[in-house]
Amino acid sequence: MNQPARIAVFLSGNGSNAEKIFSYFKDHSSIKVGLVLSNNSGAQGLQRAIKFNIPTRIFTRNQFRESDEVLIWLKEAEITHIVLAGFLWMIPINLIKAFPNRIINIHPALLPKFGGKGMYGIKVHEAVKAANETQTGITLHEVNEKYDEGKIIFQTTCNVLPTDTPFLIAEKVQALEHTHYPPEIEKWVNQ
Ligand code: GAR
Repeated sequence: MNQPARIAVFLSGNGSNAEKIFSYFKDHSSIKVGLVLSNNSGAQGLQRAIKFNIPTRIFTRNQFRESDEVLIWLKEAEITHIVLAGFLWMIPINLIKAFPNRIINIHPALLPKFGGKGMYGIKVHEAVKAANETQTGITLHEVNEKYDEGKIIFQTTCNVLPTDTPFLIAEKVQALEHTHYPPEIEKWVNQ
């Protein structure tokens, strides 16, 4: 029998992946979303959390990078695992040390290609299109102190047609994300 897990979700924007996660774990027997955190007080994802009665916290760059405040909130909420769902900032070392191999990220391409600083959202799909790739997909990976370089946990692909625009590619990739991220988080937590 696994110990009950409590997930914290970090997001910066829309939060469509976050909402799929909230919904998937809503009545889960052993995994609960205990806290949602954002650097952006206007993030749509915070409203989605409120709809699911999940507590939310907003932080500044200073609180995140120069203090243990966020870490203290996570401890107070008895968080065991961190899930990044469209979160823009690099995770500071105090959190990486406090949650070793317990932080997961989703990236909207097949790492190690199309990753790194500045590779976020539509920019990733524009780069895939510019490189004339015939396939793209999603990557779930553990988070370490470098952007997009932690251990790869899961990848799956979709085709890119010559006529696909970056927005069409984004739609295909988001569909993969919404299908696979919640159950893959469940497997990762229960491993
Ligand atoms: C997702 O496509 C996620 O893969 C991407 O941001 C989007 C957030 O959408 N993350 C990155 O690009 C990380 N480098 P959402 O807010 O609707 O879930």
